[in-house]
Order: sequence, then structure tokens, then C-alpha cells
Amino acid sequence: MSKRIRKAVFPVAGLGTRFLPATKSIPKEMLTIVDRPVLQHVVEEAREAGIEHFVFVTGRNKAVIEDHFDIAYELEETLQRRGKIKEFEALAAQLPAAGATSFTRQQAPLGLGHAIWCAREIVGDEPFAVLLPDMVTAPANGQGGRCLAQCVAAYEKHGGNIIAVEETPWEEAHQYGIVSVGKDFGDAFEITGMIEKPPKGTAPSNLMISGRYVLSPEIFAILEKGEKGAGGEIQLTDGMKILAQTQAFNGVRFEGKTYDCGSKLGFLAANVAFALANPEIAGPFKAELKKVLGAV
Ligand code: G1P
Repeated sequence: MSKRIRKAVFPVAGLGTRFLPATKSIPKEMLTIVDRPVLQHVVEEAREAGIEHFVFVTGRNKAVIEDHFDIAYELEETLQRRGKIKEFEALAAQLPAAGATSFTRQQAPLGLGHAIWCAREIVGDEPFAVLLPDMVTAPANGQGGRCLAQCVAAYEKHGGNIIAVEETPWEEAHQYGIVSVGKDFGDAFEITGMIEKPPKGTAPSNLMISGRYVLSPEIFAILEKGEKGAGGEIQLTDGMKILAQTQAFNGVRFEGKTYDCGSKLGFLAANVAFALANPEIAGPFKAELKKVLGAV
């Protein structure tokens, strides 16, 4: 039987230059989608998939991320004193258990592969999940699980390493990691190759790596070598490609919707979609949205 996936790594050291000036003093992962930071949505996805320990690879100017996943004593005490019990309870329910978070720093921006390698001591010798916080996923039509739950289910059934993929327009394939498809298992498929940011017109498929992975710990020894790939960075995709020479890699097509919140368009679309899926504000928000759209 395959080992259970207990730990997830969240690489959150990126600068967020695409969102300046908003991200001058706030980490991009703390920008909000409706009522909670982007990162909290992604942590909730991990928790739903059974993750028990959350490993954040941060960088300078990211300290508020650590504060966000801790108690806020003065705030919580004030909420209780003022009888704002619903708000107090919501904060308490979202808080990871004591000892269930770890923070380490990527000291230099050497690439995603390097960021994941920075978590090696905390993850140890067990398979683990990776969630790229720029990518926020939502279940199909509000039903079913989010992307990592689907990856973990595929891991439990088929074993091996798992990569979530999604179709991208062919003309955008050069911006992503791309996989080649082998045998189809119905709910997953064999990955026969992968390439990080293929030059325009050379992508072997239009299935892009969408930011959710289940990886075996042997990836760390490969990433340790620090070989540079696309963009002069230590790429996770290159590390996985080497691991694929000795271990199986399976792909999962996520059935729901993924928003690339690393781009302004994806971030704004996620806000609209999540607001429309939120029963507390969906009705009035739709009315406001119609007014705004009618005015343009
Ligand atoms: C990273 C990965 C890439 C993946 C992408 C998804 O690239 O290296 O394989 O397709 O995330 O967003 P980045 O966005 O950091 O350039």
C-alpha cells in the first residue's frame, strides 16, 4: 500500500512583481479572493485532501504569512468581548493545529526546484504534496473535490508520482511546463515526458502542469544537484524528468476550474467566480456586476 500523503509544501517566496504596487509591502499570496487571502484558499484545498502538516517556503518580507496562520490574540479577545462569536469561531476553525505548520526560507530566488529542495529537512523521507499558490482551484459546478484531493485519490489508486494537468491554448504552451501523454487509465494517464517552457511551436501537447503535485522524496537528491534549466533557474520540471527515469509519473486532468492568480486577469476572474459561488453575497453581487457591465 502506498504511504499516506501527510505533508504539503507551499512555495511562497516569489516577489509578485506583476501586482506592483499592491505587493510592495504585502506578499502576493496575501491578496484577497473575496474574504480570505489567496494562500488560505490553497491551504484549505490541501486540508480537504487530508494534509496534516503545512510547509511554507517563504522569503524576506513574507512574515505576515506566518502571522496569518497563528492566533491573533488581541483580535480574538476583542471579538469575544464584543460578542462577535461567529467571526471568532470562523477564525478558530480556520487555524491550523499547533505544530502543524513549518516555515523555512528560500534565501535566493533560484527557481521552483530550489524552493522545493529548501523543504527537504521538514518533509523527510516520505511522499508529499506541492501546491503552487498562484493557482487557485474550484470544484466543477461547486461539486466534488478541488484539485489536490483528485491527485491524492489518483496516487492512492495508481501509485507513483502525480502531476495535475490542464488544457491550455496551444499558443500559450510556452509559458508552462508541458507533459506528453502515454497510456490512459480513465481517471489518470501515464506521463511519458515533460518539458519546462518549450520554445513556441514545439510543445508535445497542450497539457500544462497546473501547480499540484504528489512527489516521492527521491526528488530532493536530484534537486540538490542544482542544475539550471529554462530561464537559468533550478526547475522542478527538470528534476521530475530525471526522477521519471526510475519512477512512474501519472497525470491527472483536474475536473474543476483553475484560476491563475499570478496574472491580473486570472486573479480578477477568481474573485468574480468565488463571489458568485458564495451564498452570502452571490445575489447582491450579481446585481452589482450587472450594473457595472451595463455601464461599460
Ligand atoms: C511553474 C512551473 C510550471 C507550471 C507553472 C504553473 O512555472 O515551473 O511547470 O506549468 O508553474 O503555473 P512558473 O509559473 O513559476 O513560471
